[in-house]
Amino acid sequence: MTATADTLPDAPGLYRIWFDLHAPLDVRVGALGCLSLPEGRYAYTGSARGGIRARVARHLRADGPRRWHIDWVLPHGRIVCVESHPHPAVSECALNAEPLAWPGVETAVRRFGASDCRCAGHLIRAPRWMPVPLYSDARLTAGERLRVRLLRPDDEERLGDYFLGLSDRTRSLYGPHAFDRPTARAICAALDPRDMLRIVATMDGPRNEEIVAYLLLKLGVRESDGKRYAALGIKLDPSRTAALAPSVADAWQNRGVAGAVMPTLFAMARSVGLRRIVLWDGVIADNHLAQGFYRKWGFVKVGEFTTSALNYDMVADIGEEP
Ligand SMILES: CC(C)(COP(=O)(O)OP(=O)(O)OC[C@H]1O[C@@H](n2cnc3c(N)ncnc32)[C@H](O)[C@@H]1OP(=O)(O)O)[C@@H](O)C(=O)NCCC(=O)NCCS
Repeated sequence: MTATADTLPDAPGLYRIWFDLHAPLDVRVGALGCLSLPEGRYAYTGSARGGIRARVARHLRADGPRRWHIDWVLPHGRIVCVESHPHPAVSECALNAEPLAWPGVETAVRRFGASDCRCAGHLIRAPRWMPVPLYSDARLTAGERLRVRLLRPDDEERLGDYFLGLSDRTRSLYGPHAFDRPTARAICAALDPRDMLRIVATMDGPRNEEIVAYLLLKLGVRESDGKRYAALGIKLDPSRTAALAPSVADAWQNRGVAGAVMPTLFAMARSVGLRRIVLWDGVIADNHLAQGFYRKWGFVKVGEFTTSALNYDMVADIGEEP
């Protein structure tokens, strides 16, 4: 995930370029002829046998030779991020189709980038509220590979397994909702990224993909958080603020898992216009691990409040997209 090609892997694989068109575009695209593209958020999915970095760098060079369909369109867009998939678990066409499961996402142009497959087209258009990247790869210092992505409707069973595995201590520190299978089912049946980003980190386990972290980013200002910040004299802009509630499976805590999620979480947050993240109901004063984690990711303490325990309010300003 990056907005330039420099940090992309050299390895062959798949890539997905997310870009915004801020105004409708009429453009001639090679053999496809003249296309009219409405404003919106777009994703182009491609495969690069000769290396992801070299191919994406070529696409991003505005003055480069135009060989692929996307080369006619990209110079008119604003790149939001680039996903790289050097070890794709799915085919190029399946990766391209993944976002189509979200409401409002559609194939933008038939046959675009799909001259040699049976796909409808490899350029899709999404609403501007679509948080991106939808996916990123991360590696823990100990070497384990993580996938970071939005929770999907088909995660019901994985999420239920994750909830049931949480210890009483983790549940008591992390309480945005109940942790049982009916809750997992209800959540997966009603996903709405306009209201809440539900971000998971997964690993390959004995029974396929397993969720090892589940982080919530509630968009807007929650009433109870808003009241405390108002009392502190801090005005939170609901269109720019979200509340964070992170959790990691007990066996994986303090091993860098949530840290591996944060760059993607910040990128997703920025991509939907957020600039500030507060803690959902603060953090308990004696939860030192969580505070160490928050400080590491730029959160600063701005206040204290008491419920059944002493809590701290912490806030991070995440800036704009690079
Ligand atoms: C809080 C939580 C989400 C953090 O996720 P994580 O994957 O364990 O965090 P990471 O391993 O990425 O980072 C933890 C950091 O805190 C630091 N840390 C650990 N113990 C610490 C302590 N006692 N004091 C200060 N810092 C500490 C670690 O050194 C690490 O920083 P480093 O990477 O520079 O070494 C996770 O531990 C969790 O789910 N805890 C239970 C639920 C919870 O408390 N949720 C938050 C509610 S506010």
